[in-house]
Amino acid sequence: MKILGIQGSPSASSRSGSLLALAQSRLQGVASNAHVITVRELPAQALLHAQFDHPLIRQALAEVAQAQVVLIATPIYKAAYSGLLKSFLDLLPQDALRGKTVLPLATGGSIAHLLALDYALKPVLSALGARDILDPVFATDAQITQHETLGYAPTPDVVARVDAALQILIDRAEEFERSEEAARERDGLLARLQPKTAAIADPKTWPARDVRWSV
Ligand SMILES: Cc1cc2nc3c(=O)[nH]c(=O)nc-3n(C[C@H](O)[C@H](O)[C@H](O)COP(=O)(O)O)c2cc1C
Repeated sequence: MKILGIQGSPSASSRSGSLLALAQSRLQGVASNAHVITVRELPAQALLHAQFDHPLIRQALAEVAQAQVVLIATPIYKAAYSGLLKSFLDLLPQDALRGKTVLPLATGGSIAHLLALDYALKPVLSALGARDILDPVFATDAQITQHETLGYAPTPDVVARVDAALQILIDRAEEFERSEEAARERDGLLARLQPKTAAIADPKTWPARDVRWSV
């Protein structure tokens, strides 16, 4: 399972980033290729001028395309998600998130703008094709404490909420993988059946030797 994190805070030491780091560390062993796109490290001019052909932008877009699961971390800024995250989401092709399981992770100064994830972020994810958007994990600044070495560390109740969300995420992603496998098998079967079906559809193409009579 390929899991990608997108870190949308402009801050180098980031509370929402600590939620993402926690989720990524808990997923070790499940994820075949846990990687993070730190949007603030992408070239600013390429982001703001929408330079799709910049090698680092192309690489980031390819990583999104290859992921089955996307964790999106953002701070709440001005009652919405960060503008930095939006500058990256705007570069994604239409349907970039179709078929992927998406888990939003966010932090805010208080719970006052918790609904920003529902009215601001989810519609954008949905416009990008995401249909499997899990309930976000949101923490206030008071629930992310300063840590000597880690920068920030979520409190135990936040850790428990992240774990619960990840369990749902793993179950859903596995279920999705199984349904994709079944769809691939079905497509393969249909592809093998198609020549015969086409022949039956047009009786003029039936070779005489293939005609079987039954009485
Ligand atoms: C420019 C700016 C705007 C903010 N706007 C909001 C807001 O509207 N609502 C809120 O709850 N917190 C707001 N905050 C607080 C941040 O969401 C909060 O500190 C968050 O945890 C920062 O996450 P980060 O460290 O990952 O950047 C704002 C902070 C900044 C710097």
